[in-house]
Amino acid sequence: MSSPNVFIGDLDSRFKHAGMTENGKKETMSKTYNIAIMPGDGTGPEVTQEAVKVMDLASSLYKFKVTKKNYDFGGERYLKTGETLTEEGIAQLRQHDAILLGAIGHPDVKPGILEKGILLKARFALDQYINLRPVKLYPGVDCPLKDKKPEDIDFVVVRENTEDLYAGVGGFLKKGTPDEVATQTSVNTRKGVERCIRYAFELTRKRNKEKKLTLCAKTNVLTFAHDLWWRTFNEVGEEYSDIKRDYAHVDATCMWMVKNPEWFDVIVTCNMFGDIITDLGAMIQGGMGIAAGGNINPEGVSMFEPIGGSAPKYTGQGVINPLAAIGAAAMLLNEIGESQAAHDIEQAIMFVTANKLKSLAAGRMGFNTSEVGDLVCEQLEKSTKKVAS
Ligand code: IPM
Ligand code: MN
Repeated sequence: MSSPNVFIGDLDSRFKHAGMTENGKKETMSKTYNIAIMPGDGTGPEVTQEAVKVMDLASSLYKFKVTKKNYDFGGERYLKTGETLTEEGIAQLRQHDAILLGAIGHPDVKPGILEKGILLKARFALDQYINLRPVKLYPGVDCPLKDKKPEDIDFVVVRENTEDLYAGVGGFLKKGTPDEVATQTSVNTRKGVERCIRYAFELTRKRNKEKKLTLCAKTNVLTFAHDLWWRTFNEVGEEYSDIKRDYAHVDATCMWMVKNPEWFDVIVTCNMFGDIITDLGAMIQGGMGIAAGGNINPEGVSMFEPIGGSAPKYTGQGVINPLAAIGAAAMLLNEIGESQAAHDIEQAIMFVTANKLKSLAAGRMGFNTSEVGDLVCEQLEKSTKKVAS
């Protein structure tokens, strides 16, 4: 849940949020955060609304201010204007402290256009080089793995988020002919790999669980790209003598995630493998309704999202589970420095999964989307009163 706050960028943002008045006096207790809200497509707006509801309540309970600006990038806007994420949009997003994203993906738009034009464009333009995906089984949640309990499933995947097969390097030769050649190059830079691995070591230290970092790669086949990962992992690891270094090939990682998920503390991996293993991760933590993630630039503007996508078939029915989006909002608050609020929201989510919801699946929660948001709010409010009294 928590991410390292050892980076200089964090200090900068503390100053930015120190709330100085014009005459230089410090305002008491009133940090203001500028948050960009991008509800996006499908069920994105419904779940984002619940996440914003919880964030607004947290701002009043924990005495900080949130100013929100909405951005309508997504399928509808694309169909009307032909625009994906514009340069002007990127320039504006840069001015915020963080971004809360709903979902990107529209049934009437050819696959790839919105994903590359909005989601990946934002990740790359804002250099959000970490994709942080906690895999945590909350109490009361049905796990498809026999006999696995919340204490068995609690790890974090640190996925590199700007390189590898996602870099967009490649092309066609003799396209459309029987001699066609298509290439897609995995790009791995020392700088990109190292900053990701460093982040993962710092996170492992900060989590203070088993203090074990597993590199997930494929050194037996990707003997160039993952040789770089392997060497960097071990070189950087020398600076972290308190962290146990562990290695698993990606195929074995999938096997262990099902067989012995309790073996993992933090996993660091490349962009493509991270994409794949975190869908498996989402399933073992109870499904897409609960899986949240952050696209993080520790020195810049980060973007948080439920990782489940736009779920077109459930759109507008009020049946989608907003807990992943609420969890994303909690991760956002943690990243900008409101760690107490973030922690308490996660606890409230856990209370709701343990005591209220029948299932995490869309339409089977026993409550509608907005009622689930209300349940989290109710619990958050109660928990803060308990502390006060
Ligand atoms: C994810 C998604 C994206 C990815 C797609 C929509 C481009 O699957 O966030 O995991 O592959 O990164
Ligand atoms: Mn994915």
